[in-house]
Amino acid sequence: MDQYVLEMKGIEKSFGVPVLKGVDFSLKKGEVHALVGGNGAGKSTLMKIMTGVYSKDAGTIFVDGRETAIHDTHDAKNNGIAMIFQELSLVQTMTVAENIFLGQEVTKRGLRDTGYMNQKAHEVLKELGIDVDPQAQVNSLSVGLSQMVEIAKAMAKEARILVFDEPTASLSDSETRQLFKMISDLKAKGVSMVYISHRMSEILQVADSITILRDGGVVHSGPTAGMTLDDIILHMIGGGSGKKFDWVEREYDADGEDLLRVEHLKVNEKISDISFSLKRGEILGLAGLMGSGRTELLETLFGIRKKLGGTVTLHERPVNVKNPGEAVKAGFALIPEDRRKQGLVLIHSVKENAVLPKITQLTKNKVFVDERKADALVEENVKALNIVTDHIHKRINLLSGGNQQKVVIAKWLNMNPEVMMLDEPTAGVDIGAKSEIIDLMRKFADEGKGVIFVSSELTELMAVCDRIITLYDGKITGQINRKDLHTEEELQYAIQKK
Ligand SMILES: Nc1ncnc2c1ncn2[C@@H]1O[C@H](COP(=O)(O)OP(=O)(O)OP(=O)(O)O)[C@@H](O)[C@H]1O
Ligand SMILES: [Mg+2]
Repeated sequence: MDQYVLEMKGIEKSFGVPVLKGVDFSLKKGEVHALVGGNGAGKSTLMKIMTGVYSKDAGTIFVDGRETAIHDTHDAKNNGIAMIFQELSLVQTMTVAENIFLGQEVTKRGLRDTGYMNQKAHEVLKELGIDVDPQAQVNSLSVGLSQMVEIAKAMAKEARILVFDEPTASLSDSETRQLFKMISDLKAKGVSMVYISHRMSEILQVADSITILRDGGVVHSGPTAGMTLDDIILHMIGGGSGKKFDWVEREYDADGEDLLRVEHLKVNEKISDISFSLKRGEILGLAGLMGSGRTELLETLFGIRKKLGGTVTLHERPVNVKNPGEAVKAGFALIPEDRRKQGLVLIHSVKENAVLPKITQLTKNKVFVDERKADALVEENVKALNIVTDHIHKRINLLSGGNQQKVVIAKWLNMNPEVMMLDEPTAGVDIGAKSEIIDLMRKFADEGKGVIFVSSELTELMAVCDRIITLYDGKITGQINRKDLHTEEELQYAIQKK
């Protein structure tokens, strides 16, 4: 037993409904232990118990073989346990250094020693190879960089047990590689890590052992060696067949009229001349590395960013949207990359979030919302997207990460837009939900509407897009018909090309 740095035995937790039903979990020194399972399986909850965010209803925790009480995050910290949350927990209005030292500010003669903390933060960041100014305000950072700062924050506390909850969901390829390098360095130092991800290829690459949760119970636990992708998926979904992301050629009029036409669009100095068109019924992919301009492009079409030049034509009529409200009226929808920042009102319920932009259409006599109609619509959403929630009145921040994302998608589907833009919509959703989202895109496009799909997961782009545009450094570098694409490597190669 002394080989384990941490053991959890018979852990139970209920939030009105049981979420963990007697879970055992053991972590060895210096291992990377993957925790996998569908959306809502209980992964984050188990780790929040380990890190003192939630208290358990029953069960025992051992640290270094000794029974240990972890009542709060303070207890966890004292035992060297830290967690990188799925929902980033940085304070947006503070600097990088202030975040890294949050809760353990260094003082000199009673005053906060900003100079020292900036210097120290600089060292931590440098050691981890993260290129960011310690004095930069966190809200000026990309999602990817914020994630890296979050890791630096945990490392600054000298954790020996580190939990990563979906760490790569918003990281670029090179940042992911950097993270894996960090993980192997930490491993060499004897740090033990729990790694939660829906990206199976990463699990196989990075994990020494795997524990699989289904519906709040462990269905498998053991070494990664000898396990295949199919083994894992089978345990996750429990019998039945896992849906694959197979490409099916779709029918649409590739020579028909343009639904959307973008000409010489200028977003900023870097993204200064973008032209492309989207046909009715077409699913267009935007592929590129992080920083290639995909998100900025979508945000400009949606009126979040100011268009500096060029024209946008929808149904042969010029559109000039100045804000998202006007974009919605014109027929655009955008499912944003960072759902917590832009996609959801966290203190509202599933239902309120799902019908939010549609509220005017469900209003009776222009004063009251037709609650029965709204309920029926949201119940339908929950069923169609397989959203795991006790009921539609549950507060959205109490749903698991992947299920929150599905509510964002439901919200925009309900608006019935002409052009649906999705920016990394499958980040953090499980394999089943990914194929549901892909099916939804197809169904939506089949109605003669258009989809613009941004994803860093090439497998998904390959599965659903009719045509893929590649972007590099703010410029369109190519355009490929899906039919002409044979392997993922070809696409990988195309997005790296200047
Ligand atoms: N504070 C809470 N109050 C009520 N229910 C909660 C709370 N936290 C989690 N739950 C519920 O517990 C279940 C498990 O959630 P958890 O976040 O652990 O799932 P997960 O495995 O991390 O899923 P995902 O892959 O989507 O992140 C979900 O049904 C969720 O709605
Ligand atoms: Mg989770």
